[in-house]
Amino acid sequence: LSTSVQNDPSIQVTKFDSEDACNSIKPDADEVYSQLKPYAGMPKEVLLLYSSQARYKVLREVLFWLTVACTLVLIALTITVIALSPRCLSWWQMSPVYQIYPRSFKDSDGDGVGDLKGILQQLDHFQYLNIKSIWVSPFYRSPMKDFGYDVEDFRDIDPLFGTMQDFEELLTEMHKRDLKLIMDFIPNHTSDKHRWFNLSRSGDPHYRDYYVWTDCNASNPKPNNWVSIFGNSSWSYDEVRKQCYYHQFLKEQPDLNFRNPDVRKEISDLIHFWLKKGVDGFRMDAVKHIFEAEHLRDEQQVDPNKPPEEITTEWDLYHDFTTTQIGLHDLLREWRAEMDVYSREPGRYRFLVIESYDYHEIEKTMMYYSTPLVKEGDFPFNFYLLDLPQNTSGFWVKHLVDLWMSNMPKGQWPNWVVGNHDRARIGTSVAPYVRAINMMLLTLPGTATTYYGEEIGMQNINITQDQVQDPAGRYNVSLSRDPQRSPMQWSDGVNAGFSLQSNATWLPVHPDYKTVNVEVQKKNESSVLAQYRSLNSLRESELPLHRGWFCYVHTDASVFSYLRELDGLNRAFLIVLNFGKEAAVTDLSAVNELPSQLSVLMSTVHENTGKSVSKSQIRTEAGEGLLIRFNSNKKFNQNHQEQCYISEKACYLGAMDILYKC
Ligand code: GLC
Ligand code: MG
Repeated sequence: LSTSVQNDPSIQVTKFDSEDACNSIKPDADEVYSQLKPYAGMPKEVLLLYSSQARYKVLREVLFWLTVACTLVLIALTITVIALSPRCLSWWQMSPVYQIYPRSFKDSDGDGVGDLKGILQQLDHFQYLNIKSIWVSPFYRSPMKDFGYDVEDFRDIDPLFGTMQDFEELLTEMHKRDLKLIMDFIPNHTSDKHRWFNLSRSGDPHYRDYYVWTDCNASNPKPNNWVSIFGNSSWSYDEVRKQCYYHQFLKEQPDLNFRNPDVRKEISDLIHFWLKKGVDGFRMDAVKHIFEAEHLRDEQQVDPNKPPEEITTEWDLYHDFTTTQIGLHDLLREWRAEMDVYSREPGRYRFLVIESYDYHEIEKTMMYYSTPLVKEGDFPFNFYLLDLPQNTSGFWVKHLVDLWMSNMPKGQWPNWVVGNHDRARIGTSVAPYVRAINMMLLTLPGTATTYYGEEIGMQNINITQDQVQDPAGRYNVSLSRDPQRSPMQWSDGVNAGFSLQSNATWLPVHPDYKTVNVEVQKKNESSVLAQYRSLNSLRESELPLHRGWFCYVHTDASVFSYLRELDGLNRAFLIVLNFGKEAAVTDLSAVNELPSQLSVLMSTVHENTGKSVSKSQIRTEAGEGLLIRFNSNKKFNQNHQEQCYISEKACYLGAMDILYKC
């Protein structure tokens, strides 16, 4: 418009000089400009004149201070929210840890032994179960004397399991699906075929002290009475070096000497190697055995009258010189600090779980938990439930659960293990309670570990002496760990779907695979698998279950019952588990916080799901577990502090749907 006006000769245009404007117009600017309306393209000076008018000035000031105030309020709010927010749960707290024994999970190439490509093929299973964390037992290059726990090369994959490329592909695919991979890491020993051991036995100056060597008598190679976990002396004579070396496990698994700084450096390099590859955490194997006393004195006999030549098992001695030596925790803290460097990568917390068990000295196990100032494991495995006796009861289960809860340092995160590659399957040892145990694991506070097959209720296989594969069972079949390592039961097809082409699987498939398998159980809403799956989803979606209070409500010879609730939330859960031999009727009428009529959200006896029960008469069949969801504004923990536990207190604010520290 302005160009067309300028170009029209009939229109006289007075050029507006801005300086003139400021000098001559200024005195009555208010008056003039109050008549004018702002127009597009007005020069800055005119605009300034407008803006210095009182009405605009005030408005501007108001807006300015409003912006300042809003910014300050936002900053204050952010700080308050951060200060008041409880910590978010990390990935290893939000999902069970699923243990894969790679020989037995899925065979992709038809040699009868599971492998990495097999795991890759089955990743959907974890999405189906809503499991996010997977620990895979060792797949490093190994002569397989202890099926991978004897490592020949920590930087390589055993050809039986695949290649490094297969590993990388597996990790990438897992990460794409938001699955975390926990590696098994075996610092205590290597295989006797490891390059370091060969160099050490041949006396190479750099490697001489990589292992624990001492002089001994070739014909009676026992410098002291120390025994191996697998039985007999933990010393073996080496013909090449003409000395004895120490092995806490098989003679093919010589112990590394962690008093040698070069060994420490090697191991920490390996930790970095795998962290750089992107693994999400480690399960540290056999940790308490890492150091031995240098003086090599005999350990004290449990039975002082036993003849020394009969001292052959780990139960015969007190292990004051071969376990939990000074320096162990410092070493773990060093490793932890190295892991934490990688944890700082956004969203990449690296998890550390410690394998160490001192049945009678739980305080030793608890030492592996981190404190706010000193970081070590995220948790040590809780193996106490593995010792659930066949003849179990409500009292027993409560006792074992409470053993952990009452000894765990305040504010820590519990965890529960009922099976692994070393111990008989719970499906066999306490068969009638498999479903109730799964219900318990997924409703207790903390992280449950699920050993492959527990989600379908797999059982031990029977192994005869001539079928033994495990070196621990070589002399005594009852010590063999093969029964709990049988192939995963995927379907009712050939080899239970574990190995589609092979004639022979490395261990026999359990004969119950026609009914106990993933495919069949997926189709049946009352199966062990279906129940595991719904419980796990419920655990993730229900705040009281994953971060609420845990309170003991009732225990007797049959029943173990507890509550999960969260302050500020009316919705809560009551769990009633019958570990007895008969049906039981539990009277919880004295529990005022419970409404008198309750509805069963889930029962392990499918027909009982949805039933309504009175709190004074809660009936459970032997082996039945009930999960009851109820609403109440009374909180049990407030009146029974001593029966309750919480990792980190948090309250729910319904109006805003947030959690805050309280
Ligand atoms: C751990 C493993 C076990 C292995 C031993 C030696 O205890 O769980 O399977 O035999 O360490 O590495
Ligand atoms: Mg294979």
